[in-house]
Amino acid sequence: MPTAIGPREGRGVGAARKGRSRAGRNHDATRAVRGGAGACAHAWKCAEAMKINQDTVLRGKKVTLVPYTAAHVPRYHQWMQSEELQRLTASEPLSLEQEYEMQHSWRDDTDKCTFIVLDSGRWPGQAEENSMVGDVNLFLTNTEDPTLGEIEIMIAEPSCRGRGFGKEATLLMMAYGVKKLGITKFEAKIGQENEASICMFKKLHFKEVAVNSIFQEVTLRLDVSEQERRWLLEQTKHVEEKSYTELKQPAGALAS
Ligand SMILES: CC(C)(COP(=O)(O)OP(=O)(O)OC[C@H]1O[C@@H](n2cnc3c(N)ncnc32)[C@H](O)[C@@H]1OP(=O)(O)O)[C@@H](O)C(=O)NCCC(=O)NCCS
Repeated sequence: MPTAIGPREGRGVGAARKGRSRAGRNHDATRAVRGGAGACAHAWKCAEAMKINQDTVLRGKKVTLVPYTAAHVPRYHQWMQSEELQRLTASEPLSLEQEYEMQHSWRDDTDKCTFIVLDSGRWPGQAEENSMVGDVNLFLTNTEDPTLGEIEIMIAEPSCRGRGFGKEATLLMMAYGVKKLGITKFEAKIGQENEASICMFKKLHFKEVAVNSIFQEVTLRLDVSEQERRWLLEQTKHVEEKSYTELKQPAGALAS
């Protein structure tokens, strides 16, 4: 595993971006659920569910979410060389080899769910690598509560920001989390200076619940009440779920 040191190193909570390693992140969630004492049946189901997006495509108006595969790694690695993105996402750069290892870990870990965000205007049609605009991730961060998901979003391509991509990708992931993974509470941890991200999550009904002055980040939270659930499903009613394997054929499959 990569051991790049991020600002949260040693903290034992929070989520790791695929290209960054918040190396001290606590992976007890996975261990507990895989058989540790106290793992409840619900936790087991939820954790197993994190792999269910392996063949899932969520097609929205502006963005399409696809599972993160090895074919996405070179572009992803290129993105994470950007100092701006490293700062905004609290990430440390990894070598290409480490990035591949990270992709494997993300594919196999049962407490994470990740999608690559593609531009719906470009894919299917254009090459997938050329349609990538960012990623969106969900983490089960609390071993005691598998209904809590930490969400992260990155629209890496600067020319694609401010066009509604981030908002739709986040809504798609939230609806997926609620419907397929049993998530009822979302949290987002965002750098205090990251006005765009804070603003976006507030527009998605998240409320600020904590400020960490040491890590200079705020925690925003959304409890998915029945009313919020209805709103979320309404916002995403246009989304189509498809098979990744089928959509890629016959244009030439990407390696998984
Ligand atoms: C933050 C980020 C995800 C937002 O995605 P985006 O596609 O640029 O944002 P959208 O166009 O979907 O805008 C969503 C809402 O946020 C608001 N917003 C977007 N950018 C903003 C900005 N720079 N300042 C203030 N508000 C902003 C928009 O007004 C919009 O509200 P609306 O729906 O009422 O119009 C994206 O800019 C990004 O990934 N940046 C770099 C990485 C990053 O910061 N990730 C988050 C780490 S916590």
